[in-house]
Amino acid sequence: MRVVSGIQPTGNLHLGNYLGAIRRWVRMQDEAECIFFLADLHAVTVYNDPAELSRNVNGMAAALIACGIDPEKSLVFNHARVPAHAELAWLLSCTARIGWLNRMTQFKEKSGKNREGSSVGLYAYPVLQAADVLLYQATHVPVGEDQKQHVELMRDIALKFNTDYDVELFTAPEPHIGATAARIMSLRDGNAKMSKSDPSEMSRINLGDDDDMIAQKIRKAKTDPEPLPESVEGLAGRPEALNLVTIHAALTDAEPQAVLDQYAGQGFGQFKPALADLLIATLAPIRARLQDFEADPAALEAILAAGAAKASERAAPTLEGAYRALGLPRG
Ligand code: TRP
Repeated sequence: MRVVSGIQPTGNLHLGNYLGAIRRWVRMQDEAECIFFLADLHAVTVYNDPAELSRNVNGMAAALIACGIDPEKSLVFNHARVPAHAELAWLLSCTARIGWLNRMTQFKEKSGKNREGSSVGLYAYPVLQAADVLLYQATHVPVGEDQKQHVELMRDIALKFNTDYDVELFTAPEPHIGATAARIMSLRDGNAKMSKSDPSEMSRINLGDDDDMIAQKIRKAKTDPEPLPESVEGLAGRPEALNLVTIHAALTDAEPQAVLDQYAGQGFGQFKPALADLLIATLAPIRARLQDFEADPAALEAILAAGAAKASERAAPTLEGAYRALGLPRG
């Protein structure tokens, strides 16, 4: 199994990102050969402030590594440093059909009423995503439900290219949907997802929060006056209580029911300090590694440069194969 996945660089990473996408990647490293990258060429399909984008690429790369993506085990880099991605995307855009891209629901959602004013890059986004994966002969793409359609498109592009040019060049990858990641909600509103764009800092736990801040945010997290119930059904209609139990369960790799088995009958006065301790124990080492990267930006630069060099090497045979299949051999 060879896995390729990308993530768009964003700032202000929080607990929801960690317990969702990032931890899933960390675990995949034990199951498969992994190639993980920051999709910064996807980020520029909409306007981004350049200084902020640059900060986010580095910040997110540091966070991935701090959270346990091991550059010794996995390939880690950012798109922009590996020109093969953009190159193959062009070649594949000549195989992908306009009718196929017109069906992509993510473009419809992202462009909304402003279709005519959207960038060509936003429209062609899934073709670049296909290049990201096909370059490395990946067998599986760990994605959420929302990206399944893009993986289908990769398969269509791979098969059409292979058929049109009578080659067995590209591997058609499968989506790897995986166990549904814990949905971590806002600490202020159990019905809203924990989000970097929530105006309230108290709504989320950032990966950079110090121990006191984590404890304070959990202490002030919205709850209700009832004790914890004996079973998960008892959390129905109590979204904030459910969220805190979910966080506890995710951190200890347990089912929510196992958390309730331990805490049933206790109030939040007892549960919250235990949860805060657990969060601090999980996040403190991650924060320490992030601080190390901040103190030594050259270390991160070296990791990304080495990752990009290795990725270029790994991508080269497939890229050359694509040029050759098209009748454009390059030596
Ligand atoms: N489009 C993906 C997202 O927004 C990110 C991404 C870019 C990706 N290239 C990829 C995911 C290749 C899987 C494989 O989540």
